[in-house]
Amino acid sequence: MSDHNQLKITSMDYRKDRPKAENPLKVMDLTLRDGHQSLFATRGRTEDMIPVAEQMDEIGFWALETWGGATFDTMHRFLNEDPWERIRTLKRYAKKTPFSMLLRAQNLVGYRNYADDVARAFVDRAAANGMDIFRTFDALNDYRNFETVVKVIKECGKHFQGCICYTMTEPRLGGDVYNLDYYVKKGKDLENMGADTICLKDMAGLAAPYDAYAIIKALKKVVSIPIHLHSHFTSGMAPMTQLKAVEAGVDIVDTCMSPYAYRTSHSAIEPLVMTLLGTNRDTGFDIKAMAAINEILERDIIPKYRHLLNETKLSIIDINVLLHQTPGGMLSNLVNQLREMDALDKIDQVYAELPRVRKELGQIPLVTPTSQIVGIQTVNNVLFDDEKERYKMITGQVKDLCYGLYGKTAVPIDAAVQKKALKGYPRGEDPITCRPAEVLEPELEKAKEDVKGLAVDLDDELIYAIYPVTGKRFLKWKYGKEEPPAEVKAKTLEEAKAEQELIEKAKAGKLVEKDEKKVPLKGDDLREFKVFVDDEYFEVGVEEIGGSPMVSYVQQPPGQMPAPVRVPAAAPAASPAPAAPPEKPAPKAVDAAEGTPLAAPMPGMIISYQKKIGDSVSKGETLVILEAMKMENALPSPADGTIKAINFSSGDNVAKGDVLCVIG
Ligand code: CO
Repeated sequence: MSDHNQLKITSMDYRKDRPKAENPLKVMDLTLRDGHQSLFATRGRTEDMIPVAEQMDEIGFWALETWGGATFDTMHRFLNEDPWERIRTLKRYAKKTPFSMLLRAQNLVGYRNYADDVARAFVDRAAANGMDIFRTFDALNDYRNFETVVKVIKECGKHFQGCICYTMTEPRLGGDVYNLDYYVKKGKDLENMGADTICLKDMAGLAAPYDAYAIIKALKKVVSIPIHLHSHFTSGMAPMTQLKAVEAGVDIVDTCMSPYAYRTSHSAIEPLVMTLLGTNRDTGFDIKAMAAINEILERDIIPKYRHLLNETKLSIIDINVLLHQTPGGMLSNLVNQLREMDALDKIDQVYAELPRVRKELGQIPLVTPTSQIVGIQTVNNVLFDDEKERYKMITGQVKDLCYGLYGKTAVPIDAAVQKKALKGYPRGEDPITCRPAEVLEPELEKAKEDVKGLAVDLDDELIYAIYPVTGKRFLKWKYGKEEPPAEVKAKTLEEAKAEQELIEKAKAGKLVEKDEKKVPLKGDDLREFKVFVDDEYFEVGVEEIGGSPMVSYVQQPPGQMPAPVRVPAAAPAASPAPAAPPEKPAPKAVDAAEGTPLAAPMPGMIISYQKKIGDSVSKGETLVILEAMKMENALPSPADGTIKAINFSSGDNVAKGDVLCVIG
């Protein structure tokens, strides 16, 4: 018996009409979703997909991935585009190839589990708008979170692809949690649930070639439905992993058109087509047709997005994934968050704390939203904890996780952490063990009521139900009730080119630079002072030159606890020094007589105030819900008293240190 999966050369024909392979490898293209999500912060606009949609429809892809959680979020939040409209528009250009979306199971296209009524309505509308394949994953691989959506996918006659999120606790496949048995069992579970295909979803590019080979080989033995591999390039292993997967008999793989490939994105399609050309797994794709698409992308589209590419390093490989098992997207989030808080020097502490937090939170896979949940909590621990107390600032999502609202974790959550997180938790202090959505009250009717007069149809209502704050703002833009800000408008190719020219000019030294003031060397007579301004403090070096004192450096020690502790005004010794540090504006002054301010500990967006002016509060009670890096943080009152002032409202963006409210 000949082995169906054994690679063999059958022809060397290069032409488009070469003989069809015995078992062609099927390919899903991710350019229009994961490609721009991975490389260009999901900022791809529909108008920039249309120019290639018809040609991509001709290639013969198994599916085009066009939609997902990050696209839904980014489109209504940053691009002023209706996410539903994208499916309908692209369908008019790509009529033959099925569309695939990434569905976060009961999290839908958001960051928490939604109630069953919202989940049912969402899947039903996605199918009605033109979605064909629902690649469904749960961040905890808890398939109870699939139950509601899968039922609707099937009712709509659509394709249910079940994902196994690939994660690990060791440098390679193994250990007592995520080993070969784990993946095989998950595969069987999915087949039993009625999955049409199974996807091994390696979101971080962690799957080593021989590990993927072992898993796919084992899965092919025990399940009869096709196996699909999704493996990010991030660590550089993906093309090798893909080839070993082909040898193990994988049915479908994911790739991007080469301008959208590599780095934290996916392997490119073109080398794979050439690799398999003339074998029994030949894709049959026309390499020349692909080159024509790439030309359009490079010439007309990429220039508008190039500035979003993280090009700080020459290497296109991020070996942090191999060193710390931190997914690429999660790592850039962590770095951004630390930078915004002037604490980038703490990155090594974050690397050290991360596996510890992950273990304490039940050794969960790191994928949206758990990568954010673990990441942000790790940053909070590094910034705010001390030797005496850990988990000083627990995010709302970690509390939900500890309660069981995301599902069952791979190993039990650390009992002490769980107890601390659930202290005073509104749903109760005892965690649940049932399917999470069982405890969620229906949400859809209330959402409809909330946007009555603004939302026109169910699609609008769902945008609001899933993203209340930014969704409502989008609906106001959509229906002309509010002017969209300039930053959500599209950049034209002309603007992009003008910017690029300016950069080239600067590189060639043709832009005149301003002379920078030279900082003199510190002398022996340097005296150092501590200067306290409101709740911030600076170290100031003062040295006499010709009788007049000058500030030779001003430095703010990074990463202090931004607690609204009132510190006495400037230290007396600092009086001869000029006051304000040069580039750092003085924090907003709040008169001590007014009361105790609650300052934002991190930049973010106000979700809600839990109190009104005049309400009395006690110390520790939650005053403000602040969203930072998509996680909700409950900010406690720093004092007993009455709310004297509220300085922002829901939806406002605030900087670190902004006074959110004052308690008197
Ligand atoms: Co991905």
